Amino acid sequence: MHIQTAAVHTLRGFEHGAVVPPVHLASTFELDPATDSGGYAYQRGANPTRAQLETVLAALDGAEHGFAFASGMAATAATLSTLVVGDEVLLPASVYGGTYRLVDLVLPGRGVTGRFVDDLGTLTDEDFGPSTRAVFVETPANPTLRITDLRRIVELAHRHGALVIVDNTFMSPVLQRPLELGVDVVVQSATKYLAGHSDLLAGAITTNDDALAEAFALAQKAQGGVLAPQDSFRLIQSIKTLPLRLERQQTNAEAIVAHLRDRADVAQVWYPGSHSEEEARIHASQAAGMGAVLSFELAGGLDRVAFLQALRYPAYAVSLGGVETLICRPATMTHEAMTDRARVAAGITPEMLRLSVGIEDLQDLLDDLDQALAAAR
Ligand SMILES: Cc1ncc(COP(=O)(O)O)c(C=O)c1O
Repeated sequence: MHIQTAAVHTLRGFEHGAVVPPVHLASTFELDPATDSGGYAYQRGANPTRAQLETVLAALDGAEHGFAFASGMAATAATLSTLVVGDEVLLPASVYGGTYRLVDLVLPGRGVTGRFVDDLGTLTDEDFGPSTRAVFVETPANPTLRITDLRRIVELAHRHGALVIVDNTFMSPVLQRPLELGVDVVVQSATKYLAGHSDLLAGAITTNDDALAEAFALAQKAQGGVLAPQDSFRLIQSIKTLPLRLERQQTNAEAIVAHLRDRADVAQVWYPGSHSEEEARIHASQAAGMGAVLSFELAGGLDRVAFLQALRYPAYAVSLGGVETLICRPATMTHEAMTDRARVAAGITPEMLRLSVGIEDLQDLLDDLDQALAAAR
């Protein structure tokens, strides 16, 4: 089944012939007094609507197991909750600011060390010590769009008995399926492309590893950061249009990249593969497209605030992946939790702007960017 069909048809056969799944709101379920068992017991552990979403999440990634959490960060925290006192996780310097915050401020209190590596592409056997238990990768990275070679990281990490966890938020399963490349765990902020309308916070984990799946089910039940039934239903419905939305967003983004690169009043444009030919080759070998996020910097002398104020369509707001175009300034918004040093190491410049391209009419977006650039001069 191709992914557009899987997004629509993974769930079938509902009561009364309904073509969309029912929403089960019950927080608790009756058990058989003779055995104290039943299909479901209590919503936090499992519930039928979340279970249906989890079936869809697994199907999209070609995974054995799927898990839905209350946010991308709850899901990310669950992936890292597999680490114990004394363990170390390697991460790229350019990683989502919330993940940086978790690793910088929370994990040390649990005796887990996060080591940020400027460029995961330079990782070698020497970087793995006896306590290195995991490598956490974002490719393309937020917001620099740097690319990491997943096959190479999997080979290196597995040689040293370390797990590979990939944050696939920027690509979604439509453009990149890391489990097929040997990655152990995929985590996503489902708030972004999966939900797609900037109206829902959710996180997703998929894996083929039974022991890890048990750990994630425990994280749901023991820590409780699970997705509610109504939101699970809304995500099931949103996912049906994910491939369509992303196709349109990506077409728009590619045209905007080409347009901005041609303009003298734009100093830099970053997108997957823009850093080097090597990164472009790697990205093409592991993903089916560039996605719909790009970053750029205005040429010196242009007034950034005037540019942002003049924009008619892109809202100046964090987040990405929605049908509406959003623009933000990572250094002071999504990545403000980082120290100045960490931002420099990650390649996040103070003037960098990140654009998450929506499904609007392309010409309207291009005209809008042009008139805002004129206002900034
Ligand atoms: C790449 C990436 N991972 C994880 C997250 C966290 O997701 P959430 O905001 O749903 O908790 C975000 C949010 O911006 C993100 O961009």
